[in-house]
Amino acid sequence: MKNNNIILMGFMGVGKGSLARELSKLTGRVSIDTDDLIESMENRSIKKIFEKEGEAYFREIEKKLSVWLEKSVKDTIISTGGGFFHVGNLQEIGHVIYLESSFNAILDRINTFENAKKKLKKRPLLKNMTKAKELVSQRHPKYIACADTIIQTEEKSSQQIAEEIIKDVIEKSAQKEVE
Ligand code: S3P
Repeated sequence: MKNNNIILMGFMGVGKGSLARELSKLTGRVSIDTDDLIESMENRSIKKIFEKEGEAYFREIEKKLSVWLEKSVKDTIISTGGGFFHVGNLQEIGHVIYLESSFNAILDRINTFENAKKKLKKRPLLKNMTKAKELVSQRHPKYIACADTIIQTEEKSSQQIAEEIIKDVIEKSAQKEVE
C-alpha cells in the first residue's frame, strides 16, 4: 500500500523546494528534501559527489534513500531531486505530483533569484544549457509515466500551487479515508 506522503517531482529549478516549504506551512506536515538528505548521508555537497564519484554513484545513493523513505517515512512532504523518478518505488512512497514547466519558464524562474549564479553552480547537470534543454524533453514522458497528478506551474506562485495541491490531492485523499 502507498505511504501517505506527498512527493514533489519535476525538473531542476521548477520550484519543488519552495513549494514543499509552502505546503509544510499550510498543512503543518514536515517537509524533507532528498538532496539535503543525501548531502547529510554523505557529509558533502551534491556538487562534490558528482565531481568525485560521478553521476552513477549519486543515483545509487538516491536508490538507497528511496528504500528508507518507503520503509520509514509517513505523512511527509518530500521534495525530490530532478532525477529521483528513476528509483523505481516512487509509487510505494506516496502520491507523486509532477510539477510541469517549459525549460524557458524554468530559466526565467532561476534568473529571478538574487543568488541565481550560486543556484546554477550547485547543479552539475545545469552546467550545459543545451544538454539541460534536451534533458527536459527526454524526461518529460518519464515524469508523466510516474505521476499520479500533473500540475502546470507556469505563472503560478508557490502559494497558488500549494493551494491547488491541498484542494485536489490532500483533501480528496482525506475524504476517501473517511468513506
Ligand atoms: C538532478 C537534480 C538536482 C540534484 C542533482 C541531479 C537531476 O536536484 O538531485 O544535481 O538529475 O535533475 P534539484 O532538482 O533539486 O535541483
